[in-house]
Amino acid sequence: MNVLVTGGAGFIGSHLVEAMVARGDEVTVLDDLRGAAVSNLDAVLGRIRFEEADLIDADLDSLVHGGGYDLIVHLAANAYVPPSVEDPLYDLRLNFESTVRLLQAIRTSQRKPRLVYASSAAVYGSPKHNPVTEEAPFAPVSPYGVHKLAAEQDVRVFAELFDIHASVVRFFSTYGPRQRKQVVYDLIRKIEANPEEIVVHGDGTQVRDFVYVTDVVAAVLAVADHAPGRGEAFNAGAGTPTTIAELVLEVCRSMGAAPRIDWTGSVRPGDPQAFVADVSRLQALGYQPDVSLSQGVDNVVAWARSPSEQEAR
Ligand SMILES: NC(=O)c1ccc[n+]([C@@H]2O[C@H](COP(=O)([O-])OP(=O)(O)OC[C@H]3O[C@@H](n4cnc5c(N)ncnc54)[C@H](O)[C@@H]3O)[C@@H](O)[C@H]2O)c1
Repeated sequence: MNVLVTGGAGFIGSHLVEAMVARGDEVTVLDDLRGAAVSNLDAVLGRIRFEEADLIDADLDSLVHGGGYDLIVHLAANAYVPPSVEDPLYDLRLNFESTVRLLQAIRTSQRKPRLVYASSAAVYGSPKHNPVTEEAPFAPVSPYGVHKLAAEQDVRVFAELFDIHASVVRFFSTYGPRQRKQVVYDLIRKIEANPEEIVVHGDGTQVRDFVYVTDVVAAVLAVADHAPGRGEAFNAGAGTPTTIAELVLEVCRSMGAAPRIDWTGSVRPGDPQAFVADVSRLQALGYQPDVSLSQGVDNVVAWARSPSEQEAR
């Protein structure tokens, strides 16, 4: 397939691009590198096309109409909650408005490439019941969640109104090599800085669905290849509950460290106590997560300790 991956230099994007190149897809990446190092794509750079452009003002009509794409995977975004709280209007333009511009470009193209849109578990806010199904009520608690929800609703509406083959994937807590933010990476850095004692938010009882990045890639490919494309949404998680205390122990085990853990007891306002995906809808497309938490954490620790990553810091 001829594929465009927006945000393809990022954490999830670079792993997706590697998998697509490995299976023989012809890949173009659009990314302005604001949130990623081009070295994320080192393994495939000679075998892809790279468009360094800002999605906000890129000429998406020319890009889509002239690209001859069969599939677009739209990952480029502000991918984190705090910047959306700092600057909600910027998040609106990047995460919502740019998605609508991309939908318009697809709608007006002759070929009408398929679309897979990267949404987030943040659309559910603080779920009342776990595991969370795709039918759970929407109640986002951040501008990020609101704009992801608005964008995915437009994906559904464009699919219905304009006969575009489009799907939505709601990622849960994704982790893996090349993610230089979020809890797994933060824990590794804290233990590196002080193997004797670390401070961790909360009390350790919060439950999350940690899903390894190659499983998320498998989810995207399953949706791209097998979803009906009527704008449906699919949860992409491991489907397994893990407490933060269990995660901390895994990271300590993997690093051969036994620090004293100083729990702050408090969490960010709006942070749910528990968040686990029901992945049965995705499993019906053939998805099966296959990287255990201990294997995944070992991979991240090995990457974080690699000479190239140590040098890059
Ligand atoms: N990582 C997670 O746990 C998670 C969870 C839910 C949803 N998501 C979604 O998955 C997608 C990928 O997230 P990620 O974790 O790989 O984050 P990331 O920040 O590593 O990737 C985002 C990519 O988009 C690019 N980008 C940002 N603004 C751009 C712009 N204006 N023009 C062009 N490129 C731009 C960045 O340079 C980066 O390469 C995002 O849409 C994010 O919201 C991620």
